[in-house]
Amino acid sequence: MSKAHDAAALSRCLADAGYTREGVSAFLGPIAWDALARVSPAPAKAICEREQAHPLSALVRAFWLGQPVEADALAAALTHAGATAAESLGLVATDGERATPLVTLRSVSVSTGAREHEFLVASDRDELCGVSPLPNHHVLGVGGSTRTLISLLPDSASRALDLGCGCGIVALQLSQLADEVIATDISERALWFTGLSAALNGIESIETRLGSLFDPVADERFDLIASNPPFVITPRSEEAAAYEYRDAGRTGDALMLEVVEGLSRHLTPGGQARMLGNWEGDVARMQSAAVGLSGFVIERERLDPARYAELWIRDGGTPVTSSEGESMLWAWLADFASRGTASIGLGWVVLQEGNGPIETEALAHAVDPRWLSEHFTAALAAQAALTRINDDSLAELHLVVSSDVVESRHARPGAAGPNVIELRQGGALQRTLTADTALSAFVGVCDGELAVGQIIHALAALLEVDAEALLAQLLPQIRSAIVSGFLHVEEPTA
Ligand SMILES: C[S@@+](CC[C@H](N)C(=O)[O-])C[C@H]1O[C@@H](n2cnc3c(N)ncnc32)[C@H](O)[C@@H]1O
Repeated sequence: MSKAHDAAALSRCLADAGYTREGVSAFLGPIAWDALARVSPAPAKAICEREQAHPLSALVRAFWLGQPVEADALAAALTHAGATAAESLGLVATDGERATPLVTLRSVSVSTGAREHEFLVASDRDELCGVSPLPNHHVLGVGGSTRTLISLLPDSASRALDLGCGCGIVALQLSQLADEVIATDISERALWFTGLSAALNGIESIETRLGSLFDPVADERFDLIASNPPFVITPRSEEAAAYEYRDAGRTGDALMLEVVEGLSRHLTPGGQARMLGNWEGDVARMQSAAVGLSGFVIERERLDPARYAELWIRDGGTPVTSSEGESMLWAWLADFASRGTASIGLGWVVLQEGNGPIETEALAHAVDPRWLSEHFTAALAAQAALTRINDDSLAELHLVVSSDVVESRHARPGAAGPNVIELRQGGALQRTLTADTALSAFVGVCDGELAVGQIIHALAALLEVDAEALLAQLLPQIRSAIVSGFLHVEEPTA
């Protein structure tokens, strides 16, 4: 039987048994289901033990929790055909009595804006299965950072690259947005998982290629490059485990710079890249690597070297307080000290082919991932359009305040007017913009009726200030308010 045939048979049997996200969460109930997300398997194991007669008991134990189960129970849950397919695909090894899972197979749902898709995803057995610390060649399942990258993707593309595909989840989502997907990785095992995950979901538009970074696509261009690359800054010493899934063996953040520098050679004109990453020191280093590109580098968090090291030591399953964890921490601190690195930025890189500004921003608040895709698509378009027009043309635009924006006015008790005026977004990056009276009045009038210049001249008369001075003050603020999504250009009515 072919892999595609076995995969189709197995996914049919799993669906028939109710092994879907909805089915498994209903079987486990909210407490055990939520505990799984915190990498706490005991409540789920207790339900499986109590409900042994239920077909999902064997399937959850084997495929979600990676525990051996009786071969008969697995065959009963999957039917004989499903159990045979699981074995020939390499998901379980059976010795007649027991079926031992070799990988996990979980039903996950991921979203890009309003596009939510559920996939069966195969990946290596992990902490939820009791594997800790993880082996160096571990292929990661679907985690929080992957979900963030998926939420940053645009909602369509024609030819997309997933650089460093791992279990294949980003490529699976790309296959729903793009006509053609190339998924690359340096790990043969990762490509095996990506191919398996694609087959289990009946997806044929993903091509897997082995090799480092852009090597497998040397002369090719894409209109979308997505990557959750192996960006973890890791000391090049024996103490720190070199995990393939997060570390490409470079010193410091050289990997990030290499990927960002390579983008312009692999993007079509106007093509876009959406990536996650970590960088040492000032974010300006990422800006200078992005030659021939424009867009945004968003810093979500900045950690000192000790916090950074603790984060990644724990991620690999080593307690920071163990003697192994302690020597790893020392190695990490010595590595950062050798380059004089005082802090590390963690964030998102959203770029577009074509020279232009690379805007940087530190986001101090949590953002709702539902708005990211649409926001960055609009922001890249606005940034590119504004780069092409001068202030005279900007003054002729008709702008509209975005529907998610509200204004808050704060005053000291008894004050005649507000001391602080804030414009707040409900969508986009949920930013707060502190506005003076002139900007707040300008935004308040933006209903598409009058041009920017007309509004500013009227405001200058009202506020009794020089119109040219007010234009010089407001136009840069207006450019920034358009790019950040507080204002947008009125669409001409058909
Ligand atoms: C953080 S994982 C991301 C996996 C998957 N895209 C996700 O988001 O879940 C990074 C992936 O990059 C791969 N990788 C490591 N070094 C690489 C290299 N030099 N070139 C390409 N891929 C590499 C790893 O094997 C791993 O699968």
